[in-house]
This record gives sequence, C-alpha cells and structure tokens, in this order.
Amino acid sequence: MADVRVSNHPLIQHKLTLLRDKRTEPKKFRELIREIAILLAYEATQDLATTPTTVETPMGVAKGYRLQENIGLVPILRAGLGMVEGIWEMMPSAEVWHIGLYRDERTLRPVEYYNKLPVAPTVQVCLILDPMLATGGSASATVDILKRWGAQRIKFVGIIAAPEGIATLSGRHPDVPIHVAAVDERLNEIGYIVPGLGDAGDRQFGTG
Ligand code: PRP
Ligand code: URA
Repeated sequence: MADVRVSNHPLIQHKLTLLRDKRTEPKKFRELIREIAILLAYEATQDLATTPTTVETPMGVAKGYRLQENIGLVPILRAGLGMVEGIWEMMPSAEVWHIGLYRDERTLRPVEYYNKLPVAPTVQVCLILDPMLATGGSASATVDILKRWGAQRIKFVGIIAAPEGIATLSGRHPDVPIHVAAVDERLNEIGYIVPGLGDAGDRQFGTG
C-alpha cells in the first residue's frame, strides 16, 4: 500500500492556496515554495535517529540529543531547487546532491542530464525534493539513481501529487514515503496536474 502523508497543517494549507493562485508573482511564489518546504521537511524528519548527550548550560547540565544520521537533500532540477535553501537552514550540516532530470514533452519520460554523486554513499537519509509528482517518472528515476548509489533510507518531499504519480512511485518503490501538501484530482492530456499550480519551474524562475 502507498505510504502517503498529506499534511493538513493550517499553515501549509494556507500557503498552498496562495501558491496555487495564478496571480502569485515569481518572488512570492519562491517565498511560498521555501516556506512550505520547511514545514513539510519538519514533518518528514520526525523519525530521524538521535543520540542522547548532555550539554552544560550557564546553570547546570541538561540532557540533550544530537542528530545521528547524515542527511542528503536531493533536489530534482530545476523546480526542486526552490525547496533547498529553507530546509538547509534548518539542518545546515546536510549535504546537497543535485539530480538533473527533465521530462521529455512528447513521451513524458524523464531524461537525466546532471548527476555528480560520488562512487560511495555519504549520507544515511535522502530527502528527494521536487514540488510536483505528476506521472511519477522523475521521482521514480531519482529513487533508482539513489538506490544504485547505495542510499539506505529515502523519502520524497513534494508539494502537490497526482494520483497517477503516487501509484507509479509507490508501485516501483513502496519503501519510499511520500510527503506532500495535497493530492489533486488527475493529470491532463499533457501530463500537468489538475488543478495543480501550473509549471512549478517556470513560475519560480519567471520563464515560460
Ligand atoms: C517538473 C517537476 C518534476 C517533473 C514532474 O519538472 O519539477 O521534476 O516535472 O513530472 P513527472 O512526475 O511526470 O516526472 P520539468 O521536467 O518540467 O523540469 P523543470 O523543473 O526543469 O522545469
Ligand atoms: N510539472 C509541473 O511543473 N507541473 C505539473 O503540473 C506537472 C509537472
């Protein structure tokens, strides 16, 4: 069964509504992508392992916890880029590994054009970042890449998913939880999510 976590947090839902609005300009759109990404990553990282420790305060010694695992943020270019900075501020020791994929407009199949992963994995947990899970081809291909690399735990953090994308990603990779702010109705005939928000890359970067 698909492991899909849709956040009903009021802050996320409020910001998502502004993000979808066709009148939202690129500057505001980028701010919203950044803010929603932070909130979704907060929810997606609730099960990170910690090591107990102690810390000296000015008043004494307190119990504390340190993150145990190395985290990799894996934005899918281009649209995933906007989700990186805010999350990175929350976890500054994370590594960022970019994966370049674009969808062939005719076949809707992902085409890989950038991948600089080193030979051996350097992180224990990977958060794939991409606002849109449409056919699921790009996300599934990215999980394929990360699994070949040797990544042990992978999560997908997106903003809007189509049912078709969830079926594909969870069918090919049932071990990868899918964290999103919304699951929309369907894909249209050219592979866009309806009602969605349009083209997430173009709306962030002011192109198209
Ligand atoms: C968009 C989006 C995802 C992909 C989702 O990227 O950011 O990466 O489409 O579609 P899928 O689930 O059907 O694979 P796009 O290929 O438009 O590239 P861009 O981010 O460079 O604009
Ligand atoms: N990519 C987007 O940017 N938007 C969609 O609706 C589908 C794929």
